[in-house]
Formats: sequence, C-alpha cells, structure tokens
Amino acid sequence: MSSGVAYSLRGLVLCLSIVPMPLAAQENRPVRLHAPPALVESGLIQHILPRFTLKTRVRVELVDDPAAADIALGDSGAPLFAGLDAVWHLRVTGGDHDGTARFAEWLASEVGANTVASFAPGGTALFGPPPDAADIDVVVTYDGDAKLGHQVSRAKCTRCHVIDEATRGFGIGSTPSFMVLRTLRDWDERFYAFYTLNPHPAFTVVEGLTLPFPKNRPSPIAPVTLTVEEVDAIVAYVAALQAADLGAPLIHQ
Ligand code: HEC
Repeated sequence: MSSGVAYSLRGLVLCLSIVPMPLAAQENRPVRLHAPPALVESGLIQHILPRFTLKTRVRVELVDDPAAADIALGDSGAPLFAGLDAVWHLRVTGGDHDGTARFAEWLASEVGANTVASFAPGGTALFGPPPDAADIDVVVTYDGDAKLGHQVSRAKCTRCHVIDEATRGFGIGSTPSFMVLRTLRDWDERFYAFYTLNPHPAFTVVEGLTLPFPKNRPSPIAPVTLTVEEVDAIVAYVAALQAADLGAPLIHQ
C-alpha cells in the first residue's frame, strides 16, 4: 500500500469519528430521562411525558440507569418542583440530543410547572413549586457579629450611606440607606457581594478577597478596607435591621 492511500484512509476514518453520530440515529432515539422510583410510582412522569411529546413531537423514554440518561430528576441540580416530602431537582447530564434542551426548558417553564401542578390523582395535587428564595431566607442564619457590623458600618459606610436612625442626615442623599436596601428580597446577596458592585470596587479592599488597585488606576478616594469577618458582621447587622422595622427595639439602643 502506498503511503498516499494510507493517508487518505486515515483522513476518512477521522472524518467519520468527528461527526458525533449519524444524524438520523440521533433524532430518532428518544431523550432519556431518569427519575427516582418514588416519582415514577407516583404517576407524575407518565402524566408529564405524553403532554410534552404532544406539544413538541420529542419523545422521551424512562431509563433506570442515571448514567445512561440525558436528564435526571433527583436531589441535585436546579430545584424544579416539590412534593412527596422532597424537593425535586433537574440535572442535564447528556448533551448530544436536541430534544434534551427543549425538555429541560419546558420542564422549567410555566407550562411545565402547570403540567406538574395539574397532576392530581384522586383530586389532590401532589406536586407544587419548589420553595423559593424568600422561604429559604427564613431559615438562613447570619452568624456574623451584628454589634461589630454596626460599628464597622458606622465607621466605613456612612461617608455615603445612612446606616441607622442616628445617621439620618449624613451620607449622600442619592445613595440608598441600609434600611431601604434591607427591604430588597435579595438584600443579603447584595451585602455579601457589595465590594463587587459599583461603585465600591473602585475604593474597597477586602483583605484576601480583592486584588490591589492597578498602579495606573489608584483609588480616587481614601480606600475602605475591611476583613471578611467585618463583611460577615455587616450582613448580620443588616439582617437585624428588619427586626427594627417590625417594631422590635433597635439593636444599637
Ligand atoms: C463612596 C461612597 C460609598 C461608600 C463609602 C459605600 N457605598 Fe455602598 N453604595 C454607594 C452608592 C452610590 C450605591 C448605589 C449604587 C447604585 O444604585 O447603583 C451603593 C450601593 C450599595 C449597596 C447596594 C448595591 C447594589 O448594587 O444593589 C450595598 C449593599 C452597599 N452599597 C453596601 C455598602 C457597605 C457595606 C459599605 C461600607 C463598608 C458601603 N456600601 C460604602 C456608595 C458607597
């Protein structure tokens, strides 16, 4: 065999192996779903699948082996719905079937959620939406030192923010007060990450977390320097601010 033939043969083999799978085979096989036995036995899966397939013409089959699945329902991934004393999550585990993304999107959509909620054997709905962040907030505890957080906020944030009743009139009028920020549903994410949110990165240093200011762009104002414990403490202080709104004694009094 001449080397020319050998090369072209190798080229052909390469071409075949780059194409992941003959298209027809890929489209013809169903999307593979794994669900824990409790979900399957409840009848929910059999309720969902025909409805999805009717709308999209994408077939889905149940597989026992999670390793063989494109999509798995269970306890890891994104929370999808709740019922039977558990929160059920969705995890996409395979990517070579176009129907996988459609099925995942449909499950996470309002139509998908309604389809799950409409499953009511014997007249009672078994599944509903997963607990959302608001419900989870209730059980979150902020283990920082609220008193320290109050002191740190006083010392380092009042240049711009009103941080308690006593600092009203200080700060910059257009900058939101901590009391106002506390009313936002995701207030804690904002406070945990405040040093990454504008305008703070330009002047805030959190020891061990932020990079030094670039030499050619030093902080335009005196930097605010904090430790990670102090950020934690501020979050604990702001968490306690809601108690003040509800009529409990202000914690700094
Ligand atoms: C130099 C002024 C300045 C200082 C000092 C400052 N902030 Fe701010 N902060 C602002 C401004 C201005 C905004 C509003 C930004 C906006 O609306 O986009 C803000 C917004 C925030 C927000 C909401 C962020 C968002 O995007 O939702 C948090 C949380 C916050 N500040 C925390 C702090 C904490 C904690 C300190 C003290 C350690 C602090 N800030 C110090 C100016 C400042």
